[in-house]
Amino acid sequence: MLLAVQNVSKRYKHKDMDFFAVKDMNLTVDNGEFIAICGPSGSGKSTLFHMISGLLKPDSGCINFQNQDIANKNELEMAQYRNAEIGYVLQGQSVLKNFTVMENICMPFYMSNHANDIHNRALELLKKVGMEQYANSYPDQLSGGEMRRVAIARALINNPKLIIADEPTSNLDKENAIYIMEFLKQISEAGIGVIISSHDDLYQDYADRVITMNRGQINE
Ligand SMILES: Nc1ncnc2c1ncn2[C@@H]1O[C@H](COP(=O)(O)OP(=O)(O)OP(=O)(O)O)[C@@H](O)[C@H]1O
Ligand SMILES: [Mg+2]
Repeated sequence: MLLAVQNVSKRYKHKDMDFFAVKDMNLTVDNGEFIAICGPSGSGKSTLFHMISGLLKPDSGCINFQNQDIANKNELEMAQYRNAEIGYVLQGQSVLKNFTVMENICMPFYMSNHANDIHNRALELLKKVGMEQYANSYPDQLSGGEMRRVAIARALINNPKLIIADEPTSNLDKENAIYIMEFLKQISEAGIGVIISSHDDLYQDYADRVITMNRGQINE
C-alpha cells in the first residue's frame, strides 16, 4: 500500500458556523494505481489533496504514506516528503512566471540540494510531455494546456512515488485534456500512484477507480 487515508476530517468556519470540508474520508492508493476523485465545486477535493500533500493538517484521522503516519514526520522529513516523495500539481496555473520552462521544471530539484546535473532529466521530461522546444520560453508565451504539461513535468522531476493532480484537465480543450490524461495514465503504468480530481465525466475511464465526493464525504 502506497497511501492510506484513514478517517480524515477537516473543519472550517464560515460566518461563525463550523462545517466539515472533509469528513471521515477513507482512501487507499497502491503503487501504479490511477484514482480519480470527482465531485461538485466545494465538495472538498482540494482540501483532501492539501492534507495528503502535507500542506494542511487534518483535524482528525491519519494519513499513512508507505505505512508511516505523515504527522510523525519531523520538519526535514516533511520537506523531503513534499518535495521528492510526492509530486503535487496544484489546481489552476502554478508555473512561476518569472522563470523559464526549464527553470520551473528544475526548481524542486534545486530545492532538495542535489549536486549532479539535472538538465538532461529535465529535457527528457520535457520531451515526454512534448514541450522540449519550449525549454527556454517563459510561461506567458505558453498556452494553458502547455503550462499544465510543464506543471506535471515539474512534479515528476524528483522521481516521486505518488502524483496528485488537482483538476489537471480543467479549462483545456478535448485534445489537450486527452493528452494530459494519456500522459498521467503512462505515469501510473510506470508504477507511480496517481490521484486526480475532475469535474469532467469524460476522462474518468482513464482511472482504475473513480470516487465521488459530496460535501466532504464519499458518495455511497
Ligand atoms: N481556508 C479555508 N477557510 C475556510 N473555508 C475553506 C477554506 N478552504 C476551503 N474552504 C471551504 O471548504 C469547502 C471545500 O473546498 P475545496 O476547495 O476543498 O473544494 P473543491 O472540491 O476542491 O472545489 P472546486 O471543485 O471548486 O475546486 C468549500 O466550501 C470551501 O469554501
Ligand atoms: Mg478544488
